[in-house]
Amino acid sequence: TKRTKVSELLQSTEFDREVLVKGWVRTKRGNKHVNFIAVNDGSTIKNIQVVADPNQISEDTLRLVTTGASISVTGKLVASQGAGQNMEIQASQLEVLGTADPEKYPLQPKKHSFEFLREIAHLRPRTSTFSAVYRMRHAMSFAVHQFFNQKGFVYMHTPIVTGSDAEGAGEMFRVTTLDAKNPPLTEDGSVDFSEDFFGKETNLTVSGQLEGELGALALGDIYTFGPTFRAENSNTTRHLAEFWMIEPEMAFYELSDNMDLAEEFLKYLAKYALDNCADDLEFLENRLLDEEKNKPATERSPMTLREKLQFVVENDFERVSYTDAVEILRNSKPNKKKKFQFPVEGWGTDLQSEHERYLVEKHFNKPVILFDYPKDIKAFYMRMNDDDKTVGAMDILFPGIGEIVGGSQREERLDVLRARMAEMHIPEEEMDWYLDTRRFGSVPHSGFGLGFERLMIFVTGLGNIRDVIPFPRTPGNAMY
Ligand code: 4AD
Ligand code: MG
Repeated sequence: TKRTKVSELLQSTEFDREVLVKGWVRTKRGNKHVNFIAVNDGSTIKNIQVVADPNQISEDTLRLVTTGASISVTGKLVASQGAGQNMEIQASQLEVLGTADPEKYPLQPKKHSFEFLREIAHLRPRTSTFSAVYRMRHAMSFAVHQFFNQKGFVYMHTPIVTGSDAEGAGEMFRVTTLDAKNPPLTEDGSVDFSEDFFGKETNLTVSGQLEGELGALALGDIYTFGPTFRAENSNTTRHLAEFWMIEPEMAFYELSDNMDLAEEFLKYLAKYALDNCADDLEFLENRLLDEEKNKPATERSPMTLREKLQFVVENDFERVSYTDAVEILRNSKPNKKKKFQFPVEGWGTDLQSEHERYLVEKHFNKPVILFDYPKDIKAFYMRMNDDDKTVGAMDILFPGIGEIVGGSQREERLDVLRARMAEMHIPEEEMDWYLDTRRFGSVPHSGFGLGFERLMIFVTGLGNIRDVIPFPRTPGNAMY
């Protein structure tokens, strides 16, 4: 008999035939006369129930069937009489492939805390929650490619090791083969990078955007989807030092076209999750409801996970200029305790996360696209508006998450871009290749970046970004 995946088996209506299943034991219960073994093979959140009769399967074998052990089972697939499942396998042969000593195996059939599971990130995919998250990561990655492929975008691979700082924020991890303690020095005492592996100073990329722009100004519409790195010391539930980013870049797009695409993209992804991840979503939703039972009614979420996704699919995002948002914040009365007060002279400052939360969760109660930010708090490549004070930037803010997308129309005018770079002390020599796109056949163009893990927080409802990526990297932590 050929092995069948549990996901496939559970779709089946063809009973009383022999099947072969391999997987890991989640639980075993029963008595002298019969054992019920829940087996999971990772293909679905659901387990298949195996019924093992000690007359068929030796007690020596059954003794080794413990939580975490891997087994191979051959038997008859039958309709189940029991509650909770509509089919089961009556085992005729059962082989233990790998034992898992119950005294030592850390994942016992009970609810473990996320903190504990982060300590054993190598085993946590064996839990229902994490297997659901990783399957959904796969599904959402696939949806990203499907969305752009359907629209004729070209998937472009931009470099991981770069010689430029795309965001100009100086939050880069240096890549070097030089002896850190004793690097070669130039005559003026600075590190001599000409002796380094690439013959120059290099870093891990913070964004594929600048290279993406080169692609867009040749291929029209491109997107990147790859790992990006930020050496920012932010220990929050929304920041990683290594995260994945999706960055589309489109020639001939103005800011409003950019907003339209980003909104359509997020709606598509939410709908894709609802249509294709039903079992995993149901599990994660029930898990959240279970957690909220202990909270006072006022702190419980008014919407379930799937209702939140549906809400995004069905409702237009609110589009508000930064200037109007500041006005709203100035006139706001957040709550009796005055959780925050927006500075009256606040125009020009970056919004704090409490301001963003107020706009999204209290004032508008829906996703918000903020646009036309003050130039001084945004990157050098954003297009200057006619007021000379704001740039064509846009950030999308989601309830419970904050910024999920950041993007802009790019400055396509060579003279304006050069003036801006000079103002921000960005050395032109190093960016000559970038300026060439503006020297030759420049066109208006726009793009944005979606943080893949922020998206995963949204679609899984989990509260910490460390739990939506298999191997989180945060300050002080690079396990494995
Ligand atoms: O706003 P950011 O820094 O924008 C860029 O990098 C642009 N080059 C994008 C573009 O226009 N092509 O980052 C974009 C998004 C954020 O909105 C957020 O979702 C995510 O990337 N992000 C992070 N996610 C996790 N951990 C971090 N440290 C992140 N920093 C940004
Ligand atoms: Mg940003």
